[in-house]
Amino acid sequence: MSDKNRVYIFDTTLRDGEQSPGATMSHAEKLEIAAMLDEMGVDIIEAGFPIASEGDFAAVSEIAKLAQNSVICGLSRAQIPDIDRCWESVRHAKRPRIHTFIGTSPLHRAIPDLDMDQMAERIEQTVTHARNLCDNVQWSPMDATRTEHDYLCRVVEIAIKCGATTINIPDTVGYTAPRESADLIRMLLERVPGADQVILATHCHNDLGMATANSLAAVQAGARQIECTINGLGERAGNTALEEVVMALRVRHDIMPYDTGIDTTKIMGLSRRVAQVSGFPVQFNKAIVGKNAFLHESGIHQDGVLKNVETFEIMKPADIGLNESNIAMGKHSGRAALRAKLADLGYEVGDNQLKDIFVRFKSLADRKKEVYDEDIVALVQDTTANT
Ligand code: KIV
Ligand code: ZN
Repeated sequence: MSDKNRVYIFDTTLRDGEQSPGATMSHAEKLEIAAMLDEMGVDIIEAGFPIASEGDFAAVSEIAKLAQNSVICGLSRAQIPDIDRCWESVRHAKRPRIHTFIGTSPLHRAIPDLDMDQMAERIEQTVTHARNLCDNVQWSPMDATRTEHDYLCRVVEIAIKCGATTINIPDTVGYTAPRESADLIRMLLERVPGADQVILATHCHNDLGMATANSLAAVQAGARQIECTINGLGERAGNTALEEVVMALRVRHDIMPYDTGIDTTKIMGLSRRVAQVSGFPVQFNKAIVGKNAFLHESGIHQDGVLKNVETFEIMKPADIGLNESNIAMGKHSGRAALRAKLADLGYEVGDNQLKDIFVRFKSLADRKKEVYDEDIVALVQDTTANT
């Protein structure tokens, strides 16, 4: 793998993900998720927002002490006390990072009531301060995708000169589209001195359902860090889903030849655990990790996958750590699927018995949304008893 094609995965489930209303996780749950992310090969874990609460500070500090491989990052506003608090919590990590941000678009500049020059000065002070504490500093112009291009280039250049090692370009409100996302990264690389010497990151929200596409477009234009969350957890419509970008880069490596360090077989376990602890269930048809993502119910599809799984599957369930049957039995299922299901359940039946069971199965499936293994066992037993 050439280094220039390595894409770093920055997981912010424990920070941006936890900002979803109602997704608060306990201290123990955060440590557990962080350990799973660390083991999965996530390059950077954003463990929390240390100034936000005592609980966040404690969780980030503890995660920093426990992480074995990942860089541990905390978020801080562009204020010296925030940055100091952040450093206090991440400094114990083998590989700490301070992430500091400020809203740079006209709407966001109006909130602290700073003009362009005053904001530029604030960026200079805070990034310099962070860099004096830590070698690894990430800076984000919040709402970058709605910031004037000239001003964005100016502040990115300041942050780089003051020592930021990663420049993150957030699409804070999920407003951009793939071509624009790519153009923005390309523009920064062309116009900002030093932009090719730092890591450019993409941080997308999913308000228009384009977070994954926007992140991948940014990578194709030169971004080398994707910020994302498990299951796409995050405020409003959520963040870029880790499982989607990682599997897209793996499955379509032919047209997107970029590598991550993620052990994809850990995806399903993390998805399920994050859904449990956040209380946010995964929608059935969610890409990669939805309950139906690898299930086939229609007879034509079932027959196809039974003969050659690649007819209707572009990746193997085992690649994401899913080792369950991919056949859903329902009213669209055909005889071949029923025979395979019976064999799975330990029943070898002759043609006549299969015909009989199939008739009963269809009638049951017409009444029930989903036919479970237990229903099929009951059908076999019933047919056997009546013959
Ligand atoms: O969406 C956003 O702008 C953020 C920043 C704090 C990076 O989450
Ligand atoms: Zn965000």
